[in-house]
Amino acid sequence: MDPRAPLEHDRAPRQRRGRVRPVSVAPMMDRTDRHFRRLMRLITRHTLLYTEMVTCPAVLHGDREHILGYHPSEHPLALQLGGDDPEALAACARIAAELGYDEVNINVGCPSDRVQSGNFGVCLMKDPARVRDCVVAMREAVELPVTVKHRIGVDELDRYEDMLHFVDVVAAAEPDLFTVHARKAWLQGLSPKQNRNVPPLRYAEVHRLARERPGVFVEINGGFKTADAIAEQLERVDAVMLGRAAWDDPWLFAAVDQRFFASEAPAPTRPAVVEAYLEHVHEQLAMARARVEAGSRYKGPSATILLRPIMNLFTGRPGAKRWKRTLNELCQRPTREGLDALPAFAVELEAEGAARDRARAS
Ligand SMILES: Cc1cc2nc3c(=O)[nH]c(=O)nc-3n(C[C@H](O)[C@H](O)[C@H](O)COP(=O)(O)O)c2cc1C
Repeated sequence: MDPRAPLEHDRAPRQRRGRVRPVSVAPMMDRTDRHFRRLMRLITRHTLLYTEMVTCPAVLHGDREHILGYHPSEHPLALQLGGDDPEALAACARIAAELGYDEVNINVGCPSDRVQSGNFGVCLMKDPARVRDCVVAMREAVELPVTVKHRIGVDELDRYEDMLHFVDVVAAAEPDLFTVHARKAWLQGLSPKQNRNVPPLRYAEVHRLARERPGVFVEINGGFKTADAIAEQLERVDAVMLGRAAWDDPWLFAAVDQRFFASEAPAPTRPAVVEAYLEHVHEQLAMARARVEAGSRYKGPSATILLRPIMNLFTGRPGAKRWKRTLNELCQRPTREGLDALPAFAVELEAEGAARDRARAS
């Protein structure tokens, strides 16, 4: 078969809970917190958003509002869980359903030391039967879609056939989507960051999986940076997940709703997004003040945590450096006047960008 042949969606009847969203923003620790998700939702209405990974003990015993709270505008929102115990994962899935999450996902891709000491994350690729049991338990516990995020392989289990075996065993539990980070992970010798960069991307094997297992839904992940790249992948797989590109250039998602979700709503503008995001910042600062007045030890997110999601809003546009510098200063000394000046600054930069575009076009 032509390896570039498009996926034929109607070759096998496929069932899943809810429809597949063709584009998602990846779960990222220390990135996809509620603030970044709030920003992303102002840019794209329909892209599926993921939380950071939350471990089962944190879900079961942690401060729920702090760890699992989110704003209603963040839907559709998936909770990513880290764990390897079917009962605990089922209990977490129930909590996710109670809290109104739209999907629960199990992390079978993370290689960090913390994950290794708990024997979950990518370690679970070596134990597909356990992942299957986890998915069975989660699907029995809730009616939400239950999805699996994994890698091409781990350590010596890195042939295509190894991944196929993993998927075949887990598919018996009928997960609603397999998201494949298209590179393997090494448990020893590489840091998590290196494990996201050093092992080569092997897209062809994910395409082959989608072709050879038409009964499962496949999302590809790893290294995609543009809407055109998403479109190209959607010829071969059901969905595309972007991680770092969403952080480095969130505005690339401004085109996503119209292009991939058939939305007819007008695309957002940066100044409008900045203005709306600042409402969130002010809300958070007001809540923090109220907490301090009430004697709470938790003072709420810092200005840096609140402002970093919009740092890269002008990536590739004139004034991107000035925008970042201004925000960095505000992170050090957040003032009401400084924050209030941001929408006008965004309008100014947008005008500079438009002038540059016109000059280039003429
Ligand atoms: C800072 C950071 C944190 C991450 N945290 C998680 C995580 O919590 N759970 C997970 O499954 N993957 C995590 N990842 C991996 C991403 O979800 C994604 O699989 C990876 O970055 C490859 O996609 P990309 O090239 O589009 O970034 C993280 C990646 C980054 C950069």
